[in-house]
Amino acid sequence: MDFKEEILRLKKEKNAVILAHYYQFPEIQEIADYVGDSLGLSQKAAETDADVIVFAGVHFMAETAKILNPSKKVVLPDLNAGCSLADSCPPEAFSEFLKQHPNHKVVTYVNCSAEVKAMTDIVCTSSNALKIIDSIPEDQPIIFAPDRNLGSYIMKETGRDMILWDGSCLVHEAFSIDKLIELHKKHPDATIIAHPESEAHILKTAAYIGSTAGMINYVKENPEKKYIVATEVGILHEMQKRIPEAVLIPAPAKEDNTCACSECGYMKMNTLEKLYKCMLEESPEVNVDEKIAKKALLPIERMLELSK
Ligand code: 13P
Ligand code: SF4
Repeated sequence: MDFKEEILRLKKEKNAVILAHYYQFPEIQEIADYVGDSLGLSQKAAETDADVIVFAGVHFMAETAKILNPSKKVVLPDLNAGCSLADSCPPEAFSEFLKQHPNHKVVTYVNCSAEVKAMTDIVCTSSNALKIIDSIPEDQPIIFAPDRNLGSYIMKETGRDMILWDGSCLVHEAFSIDKLIELHKKHPDATIIAHPESEAHILKTAAYIGSTAGMINYVKENPEKKYIVATEVGILHEMQKRIPEAVLIPAPAKEDNTCACSECGYMKMNTLEKLYKCMLEESPEVNVDEKIAKKALLPIERMLELSK
């Protein structure tokens, strides 16, 4: 079967929109209506007039789309496509943590469950985290969750003291500083760029730190250069497509694996075949408890408002 052709047919037939993250397999990115970072994907989900949102990404992203569109059907090719960072912040434990720190504004990175978002004042992504924190009065204490690496980076950049939840992304913590230094010695002319979910010692080596969309834009500004890219390797597809002249080298992971780079196993659970099947069957669907969705909508809307 020609999955590509069938997907395009179903898209028309069902008035569906396909939203894909940069970490998806290239063939999925190629068929999507929009490919972007977490913020771009939330913005697209907020403005779509499609009846069905097909989310080629991970569960928290599809959940965010559903919270923004309670009356629309949101499908995810593989319901097991989760996120180690979101998993590192269980709602019950987070609720207890909040009780220990009253009078704090709660800012959560979008990589968390709907339940955690429902306990949040403002959601942020890696694109707008600095702006969101800067929007909060200086004398207001803040709790930031779930990513301790992004949290530490924000503290360093804004000079704000925040209480951090101790969570992290397995994929971004897999980069090896020793191998990165070794690689940079082999390519001294390469510029290191990194996602802020990476550990502080990796970020220290980077000339640019930003979201996936931010990293692509940075390379676009200096297209002739060579880059070592410290984020999930799926980003190289869109980066190379948009900036063909740039030389792109994935940052090395600690474990020796086939590509010696970092791959998100959750993002890679979605395949073209599963994408086709979920469009055909309109399943698996992502649903959010109505009460939780109502509470989680406010901090997402605040973020979208502050990101205009
Ligand atoms: P971006 O919002 O930068 O695309 O990050 C999403 C993500 O899951 C990074 O691991
Ligand atoms: Fe989650 Fe990390 Fe995968 Fe991003 S790369 S979806 S933060 S596990």
